[in-house]
Amino acid sequence: MKVIDQGKGPAILLLHAFPLNRTMWEPQLDVLSSKFRVIAPDLRGFGGSQPPSPWTMAEMADDLSALLDDLEVKTCAVAGVSMGGYIALPFWSAYPERVSKLVLANTRARADNDTEKAARNEMIAAIQQSGSGTLPDRMLPRLLRPNAPMDVVQTVRKMIEGVDTAAATYAVMAMRDRVDFSTTVHRITCPTMVVTGKDDVIIRTEDSRAMADSIPGCRFVEVPESGHLSNLENPNEFNRVLMDFLLYGGL
Ligand code: MLT
Repeated sequence: MKVIDQGKGPAILLLHAFPLNRTMWEPQLDVLSSKFRVIAPDLRGFGGSQPPSPWTMAEMADDLSALLDDLEVKTCAVAGVSMGGYIALPFWSAYPERVSKLVLANTRARADNDTEKAARNEMIAAIQQSGSGTLPDRMLPRLLRPNAPMDVVQTVRKMIEGVDTAAATYAVMAMRDRVDFSTTVHRITCPTMVVTGKDDVIIRTEDSRAMADSIPGCRFVEVPESGHLSNLENPNEFNRVLMDFLLYGGL
């Protein structure tokens, strides 16, 4: 696994969204690594973690546990944006003793419904027909809020353009087939924060709030001027709430 490993202190594992890679955490690196050891991998098939191969959420959780073993990290905070959150939950479920704090940003606990699964299948067919070149125009308007700053649009477009076609397909399959955690999250016992983007059209604020309400003692934060990629669209506010939670968040 290709990984950013920067800074000293308690560790935080950062899990990227689809179809991005570890560089989406660029705006967080300096701030976080001033106090923490930041570990941000390219998930299987993305960025420098080659070659792509099919995976399930549970297998990705095992990959991450093996990565932490290699890096000699016993416990860490885990923060995931969107697909990263879909992975953070099975990671917590399989390895609760490794998770000191949980940040679930622009993500949900429930599995895909039938309509969402059909949309995944349609996307897989489109990728197979046209390659991953179909992804930027399909995804950018959904990932970013209208009028997102041009430099953010360019950064995200570049990341999406670089994605491997097989990696994109396997990730869409893994998201389609992920299991439901909505009836399990009430068992989370570590401090948890749910983050939403005010203008997120993929995960609505009401859904994020409902997930937060079902997790004991959970913090809930709405990031203004942000769509689905809150860490990139409003990094100042995202970093502020993340640092506050990591330094002071308790139950
Ligand atoms: C992501 O941002 O990781 C994905 O768009 C999430 C999803 O498609 O459910």
